[in-house]
Amino acid sequence: MKALLESLNPDDRDWDLATAIDPDRLPAHIAIIMDGNGRWARRRALPRVAGHRAGVGPVRSTVETCARLGIECLTLYAFSVENWKRPKAEVEALWRLLRYYLRKELPELQRNGVRLQAIGRVEELPERVREELEEVIAETASNRGLRVYLAINYGGRSEIADAVNALIAEARSEDRLSSLRIDEDAISRRLYAPDCCDPDLLIRTSGEMRISNFLLWQIAYSEFYVTDTLWPDFTRGDLLRAIVAYQRRDRRYGGLGLEADGESAAPVSVVAADEDLIAASGMSLR
Ligand code: FPP
Repeated sequence: MKALLESLNPDDRDWDLATAIDPDRLPAHIAIIMDGNGRWARRRALPRVAGHRAGVGPVRSTVETCARLGIECLTLYAFSVENWKRPKAEVEALWRLLRYYLRKELPELQRNGVRLQAIGRVEELPERVREELEEVIAETASNRGLRVYLAINYGGRSEIADAVNALIAEARSEDRLSSLRIDEDAISRRLYAPDCCDPDLLIRTSGEMRISNFLLWQIAYSEFYVTDTLWPDFTRGDLLRAIVAYQRRDRRYGGLGLEADGESAAPVSVVAADEDLIAASGMSLR
């Protein structure tokens, strides 16, 4: 959080939003469905690939802002197991973009102490993409800052199926298949990123109210935030707005939450101060 404020000055248009964020209640894990690249391109009469290309900038700025805020994990949905259904030329352009991003961004990831990882059936990726991905994963492995998980060739259902199959294979190899009993904890520990906590905040751009097979197991109690902004237009301000909105939610996890004790999710004075700040700057929480 301190690093973000140090990178801004009070004249910056995101200053009020940044100072409205409570540093003690940051989401530990933010997950994002980066949607709307195709529509962004269509509105400009450009090929879909131009939309994906324009989506690289917001990836860069979101990673940087999360690193400066001190967020622990950021998961970005880059390519789903269903995305292979798209035209071959679009799929190949996405691989080229990913390789470009990995090559170009490595020094910046290192500067920000970011550790890059991947979730999904990475073994099915084209060889050169897999090799370059593994190289960046290895090069950033000792960084201790933000962990960025790129969901590539990822599907929530395949992840759960892979976890269950791993449990069966382990039990078979240890000759205890007949007594195997699977509980929630056993599945959680075999997911692609078992060390990462469940997302606190799930953001989807472009206004669609769908989960699209993303982190199905992990989002049981995530707070969902949808913005109409298309991914190529997603700015640091949009990310900060999502975090401010998240901090106003009363997370109940099936219980009664803070309201039951006569408390609001945030102290009333803090909420009022945030609203004043945002109103004064002419911004809205959308
Ligand atoms: C969804 O928009 C977006 C994708 C399938 C790809 C996401 C890729 C990027 C943001 C490019 C850069 C990524 C990295 C990690 C460097 P869509 O094509 O479904 O948009 P539409 O719904 O408007 O058609």
